Amino acid sequence: MKLALLGHGRMGRVIAAQARAAGHEVAAIVTSGNAADAARLLPGHDVAIDFSVPAAVPAHAAACAAAGVPLVEGTTGWHEEEAAVRRLVAERRATLVYGPNFSIGVNLFYRVVAGAARQFRGLAAYDPFIEEAHHARKRDAPSGTAIMLRDILRRETGRDDVPVASTRAGHIPGTHRVGFDSVGDEILLTHTARSRDGFAAGALLAARWIMGRREAGMHCFTDVLDDVLAMERTLV
Ligand SMILES: NC(=O)c1ccc[n+]([C@@H]2O[C@H](COP(=O)([O-])OP(=O)(O)OC[C@H]3O[C@@H](n4cnc5c(N)ncnc54)[C@H](OP(=O)(O)O)[C@@H]3O)[C@@H](O)[C@H]2O)c1
Repeated sequence: MKLALLGHGRMGRVIAAQARAAGHEVAAIVTSGNAADAARLLPGHDVAIDFSVPAAVPAHAAACAAAGVPLVEGTTGWHEEEAAVRRLVAERRATLVYGPNFSIGVNLFYRVVAGAARQFRGLAAYDPFIEEAHHARKRDAPSGTAIMLRDILRRETGRDDVPVASTRAGHIPGTHRVGFDSVGDEILLTHTARSRDGFAAGALLAARWIMGRREAGMHCFTDVLDDVLAMERTLV
């Protein structure tokens, strides 16, 4: 694939290294220093991968739509811009895959949590809760992944009161813990990211998927993964 990277920080650098190791070409890199050049640099790329800052997401989506380049959107914390981005994608018939967490393990964790939460439906004795921890430089809190887990717990337990606690400290790549607590015991499910490699692998998987499909619209990474896992399982 001929890739454009929007953002070249901690995530962008890991994606660039993985992409080159897999034989892909990283042909353009956009950071805050050359943000104004994005529209000029993008045409001719197979896919753009964005791990930058929330404020840049609408401009990146617009530049990719104008260039006809599908976008893998990994940046988090752009909920306020979501309606505008959805409108733009629909109007321009653009293609975008987004996800608060591109780790394949976390997306499997969502399913584990959904299955567990169903066991607690109607059991008032157990209170569901979420704890998440990330490195000190992560800007958004709670994390997009924690918000997703809260939505899953609300849906599957029927409870609205699902507290989320966030910690920002040191260099933690990302930990999410889901608990169900009663007077007599506690059940804990934990996902711990060991490095940024898992996010980068998922972003590149999404890039390959979106390049093959080119179906216009906003695709959630969870749905992309459903598709990829279904294909993989038929091959086993
Ligand atoms: N979805 C997931 O799985 C996942 C996983 C990890 C992280 N994330 C998210 O990905 C984003 C980036 O994380 P990170 O840890 O890589 O952050 P980071 O190290 O702070 O890097 C941010 C990058 O964005 C660039 N940037 C800033 N403004 C820009 C603009 N207007 N146009 C283009 N690039 C711009 C920065 O350039 P300068 O250095 O020039 O300022 C830098 O290269 C965050 O939102 C984070 O929460 C998502």
